[in-house]
Amino acid sequence: MSTEKIILDNIKYRRSIFPASYIDRDIPDEVIKELLTYANYAPSHKLTQPWFFTVFNGEGLLGLADKMAELYRLQTDEEQFLQKKYDNIREKVLKSAAVIAINIAYSDVVPRWEEIAAVGCATQNLWLAARAKGIGGYWSTPGTLGDMQEFLQLEAHEECLGLFYLGYHEEKERLGLRKPIEEKIRWVKR
Ligand SMILES: Cc1cc2nc3c(=O)[nH]c(=O)nc-3n(C[C@H](O)[C@H](O)[C@H](O)COP(=O)(O)O)c2cc1C
Repeated sequence: MSTEKIILDNIKYRRSIFPASYIDRDIPDEVIKELLTYANYAPSHKLTQPWFFTVFNGEGLLGLADKMAELYRLQTDEEQFLQKKYDNIREKVLKSAAVIAINIAYSDVVPRWEEIAAVGCATQNLWLAARAKGIGGYWSTPGTLGDMQEFLQLEAHEECLGLFYLGYHEEKERLGLRKPIEEKIRWVKR
């Protein structure tokens, strides 16, 4: 396969791969660091590089699993609370080889949306690098994120923009559902 096809297929076939599909195989710290090195090559206006990461793996996953589940309990009315959902939240974290908190540090040197866009670029890099290495991942943005400030030791100008779940998996390659690109291009030729 040509290098061009390999690179383009990596973009085309990148998918959200959820913890239910993860197999029981660790991702070595060096590999996680390598993935984040690619995330770090993302562009940012005025090179503010607003992304930073908190990696949960090994026993660290236990604390995160408990925290996420407890936040669900705290944010849910007693009559709406589902033990199954509580257990699922924990299970999702514990089935992952690692969960990475995608964090942003706003510099306020450029508009905030530009810094959020840059973190989106960094996350896509992480996602593509993971796929290239046979690792699946998905970006989760639960309603409980806003209450993780203290747990993640974030300062006032910092924020968590999601949790990125990671794990080796054996899912078959598949195309994502998308509306045709023709519906999303406005050509201006004169
Ligand atoms: C900023 C962002 C937030 C997302 N949050 C969630 C989420 O909270 N839960 C979820 O199941 N998927 C989440 N996703 C994943 C999307 O559902 C997924 O990317 C989309 O369905 C397309 O599927 P694909 O990634 O396989 O192409 C998020 C994706 C992005 C970019």
